[in-house]
Amino acid sequence: SFQPDHILRVTAENYREACTTRYSVLVNGSSPGPELRLKEGQHWHGLTAFTAPFSDGAPAASQWPIPAGHFFDYEVKPDVGTAGTYFYHSHVGFQAVSANGPLIVDSCDPPPFSYDEERTILLSDFFNETDKDIIDGLTSTNFTWSGETKAILVNGHSRQATNDTGSCHLATISIKPGLSYRLRFIGATALSFISLAIESHDITIIEADGHNTKPLNTSFLQIGSGQRYSVLLTAKSEAELKKVNKRHFYIQLTTLARPKTLTNFAVLQYPGGIDVDLKAVPSPPPLPVAEIAQGWLDYELESLDLDQGFPKLEEVTRRIIIDVHQNVSDHVIWLQNGYDWVQNFPQSPYLIDIYNGKLDTSATNQRAIARGNGFDNITRTFPAKIGEVIEIVWQNQGTFDNGGVDAHPFHAHGRHYYDIGGGDGQYNATANEKLLDSHRPIQRDTSVLYRYREKTKPLAPSGWRAWRIRVTDAGVWMYHCHVLQHMVMGMQTVFMFGDREDVLSQSGPVEAGYLTYGGSAYGNATHSPVV
Ligand code: C2O
Ligand code: CU
Repeated sequence: SFQPDHILRVTAENYREACTTRYSVLVNGSSPGPELRLKEGQHWHGLTAFTAPFSDGAPAASQWPIPAGHFFDYEVKPDVGTAGTYFYHSHVGFQAVSANGPLIVDSCDPPPFSYDEERTILLSDFFNETDKDIIDGLTSTNFTWSGETKAILVNGHSRQATNDTGSCHLATISIKPGLSYRLRFIGATALSFISLAIESHDITIIEADGHNTKPLNTSFLQIGSGQRYSVLLTAKSEAELKKVNKRHFYIQLTTLARPKTLTNFAVLQYPGGIDVDLKAVPSPPPLPVAEIAQGWLDYELESLDLDQGFPKLEEVTRRIIIDVHQNVSDHVIWLQNGYDWVQNFPQSPYLIDIYNGKLDTSATNQRAIARGNGFDNITRTFPAKIGEVIEIVWQNQGTFDNGGVDAHPFHAHGRHYYDIGGGDGQYNATANEKLLDSHRPIQRDTSVLYRYREKTKPLAPSGWRAWRIRVTDAGVWMYHCHVLQHMVMGMQTVFMFGDREDVLSQSGPVEAGYLTYGGSAYGNATHSPVV
């Protein structure tokens, strides 16, 4: 009989957060959902290990959305070398604003950093409006913005104003004097790009998106939607705490790159006498939350790992330049090379069509090559062959009307890319490669395409972000801005790696459920529409 390792029950119900009741999608009755822990090299079920492309979870790319009353059996095998901090979330509409939770992969070997204990700190946004109202507003001809986030939630907790009624309180992260900690920060925000700092404590970055970094000391952590960082923190000793006569320290979280700045707090709490009112709204002295948005690479982070197989410029088989800009006509949409990608396109998931022999990957590839920019406008995909080394350059063209104040955390499904930097104006491969000579790039799955100017003229290149990827994994992988509002407004692309043969050999036999509506699904249901 079948025994899944983790069962996650997804419901939609009224839920109280940030002193407000909102109709939200929940996992196991809460937001965030439970923390899942996997071990490197260990399969979720200990059975077949190659169904990964069908377990990627992107609706219309790799699967049908899961209809009510059905299940999807995601089979995940974290490869050796993937230990680190991740999260799971719904990929339908705006659901990820609440339907999310931490996913931690533990290494089989002792980690290269020592610490006594660890804490997970998941950051998310709170909006008053329901998912449906937000999507209706963003996609209607009478465009209505979702509004800015009402609260930054820390592990689901936040308090906005002293006159809030109800029992909501600031989040507390409890630590013990004298111990060392690994804090795992998860950027599960819908919109917010956050800079955070901890009163009287410095931190050392050691991991970004599941990859160990050379330790980097910093007074603040800047984290965009989709990104994760682990930091080391040394707790104060009993003597130090006595000296300052304090048992609590504020964690200050500030939103960056938005028209309006929001500052929220959580509490780093030592045991012994609560000396802070968790229902009060604090106003501690401002903490350092300097912005590093103009940097070449975030914090100039380097990989800890020496041998990584970073592909050099000579190995690049094609460079795909993706112009990103906002178009305001009857709708407000985000275009990539002139096309948006929204969830009513295509009519059935690409991966399933490839598997069924209904989508011709080689014709797709030929059209993309003929068009010259790597994009096939019939399927609206970017195809590539296994073994290629592709370079993807996101080129920010800003918005037509107001210059835009956005930071776009672009995220890749599937194998992680090497983040080779970002900058002002247009990407220059030769100049950038020089910088890489003395730098050991890290692999990431989310990095930020910044806005580099206050006002951009229509279609004037204002900033770039570049990635290099060795194409190894067959599948259909979404590369998209992780801001949920932007996704809803079309800021998503689809990369199609390999052909049918590659998909078949990588996935092995695929149970019928995957092709209809769910993994090892019960029979008889028809799939739900792609919404
Ligand atoms: Cu965390 Cu496609 O997203
Ligand atoms: Cu964006």
